[in-house]
Amino acid sequence: MSENPYQKLQVLESETNPLNRQDRLKAITGPLLFWYREHARDLPWRREPTPYAVWISEIMLQQTRVEAVRPYFIRFMDALPDVRALSLVPDDRLLKLWEGLGYYNRARNLKRTAQIVVNEYGGCLPDTKEELQKLPGIGSYTAGAVASIAYGKPEPAVDGNVLRVLSRVLGSREDVTRQAVRRKMEEDLAAAMPKENCGAFNQGLFEVGATICVPNGAPHCAECPLRSLCLAARDGLIGEIPYKAPKKPRRVVERTILLIRSGDLVAIRKRPERGLLASMYEFPGLEGKYSRAGALAAAEALYCDSDEVSEEPMPQIRSIIAVPDAVHVFTHIEWHMTGYILEADAIPSCCLAVRQRELAERYALPSAFEGYRKLIIGES
Ligand code: ADE
Ligand code: SF4
Repeated sequence: MSENPYQKLQVLESETNPLNRQDRLKAITGPLLFWYREHARDLPWRREPTPYAVWISEIMLQQTRVEAVRPYFIRFMDALPDVRALSLVPDDRLLKLWEGLGYYNRARNLKRTAQIVVNEYGGCLPDTKEELQKLPGIGSYTAGAVASIAYGKPEPAVDGNVLRVLSRVLGSREDVTRQAVRRKMEEDLAAAMPKENCGAFNQGLFEVGATICVPNGAPHCAECPLRSLCLAARDGLIGEIPYKAPKKPRRVVERTILLIRSGDLVAIRKRPERGLLASMYEFPGLEGKYSRAGALAAAEALYCDSDEVSEEPMPQIRSIIAVPDAVHVFTHIEWHMTGYILEADAIPSCCLAVRQRELAERYALPSAFEGYRKLIIGES
């Protein structure tokens, strides 16, 4: 045990005088800050933690890993260096910058928030957790991160990683998927966290969660600055904490994707303004799993959907071939996709005809279609 240098920084606890929950949370500050000073990773958003940079990075990091976020963050800040630039960016360009990160509502909310910040806050993100939380896409966690990291306010930022670390330290078997459990942790942490170095304190917790107290596989307790305070490590409860009540299974939705091609042109269209992947471009698709003949009939029907009544003969579909199935997993839904490539004389007028090259460069197709996009532009 004497190998762990953080040991000596820690509050001593005896069997006859155990720490209560609040004192245990208070006791993590010293070792955590000391450890973070030495172990903070060099991440692009940490170099100059302006409110804008912290906000953008935290939104990107919400459902995406640090290593995946790095290049997106750098490119995004280059293209849109401040709130004003973001508030004015055309939607297609914004989605293009976001393409591949997924969860596109995050990008749409970024722009809406930027517009509000320009119009109502003079272009400067508000500096209190309360005001920040009123903005689209900013919840308690992101508001806490911006308030603490960019403005030095003593506000907690509890995400899944922090919840895992703290549940383990506290030996708490409460269900971390419950909002009430998260809220209680936020309240207790707000009361226990230091009034200075608040940004480093929160980031220290992120960092322990990301590099030491990892979610899959064994945590690296021997190197952990919180080791001697940690009840899960002491009592052998790491496999049981964090406890998550079993989830409802995701709904499986069968879809058939029509990759309609005419020479160099490919058919895409815009999805409805509401719901899953709202307003994103997609390949025309159908609910359900269609056979080749069924898909052909459905594709032919697309040519009759147009409003124009034309004297021209109906464009012909010259061939239809099945391509491999694909699965895409969203938060609550799974798409199981069956795909066909159709070669036709023309693109149906209810769709947008785009050049294959533009498909890659101009239109942000959601990552759900990545496999089919590559297939049709001949990459893979
Ligand atoms: N995960 C969430 N926020 C983070 C941050 N600021 N640094 C590293 N990992 C994070
Ligand atoms: Fe996690 Fe182990 Fe550190 Fe406890 S001692 S916080 S279980 S890494």
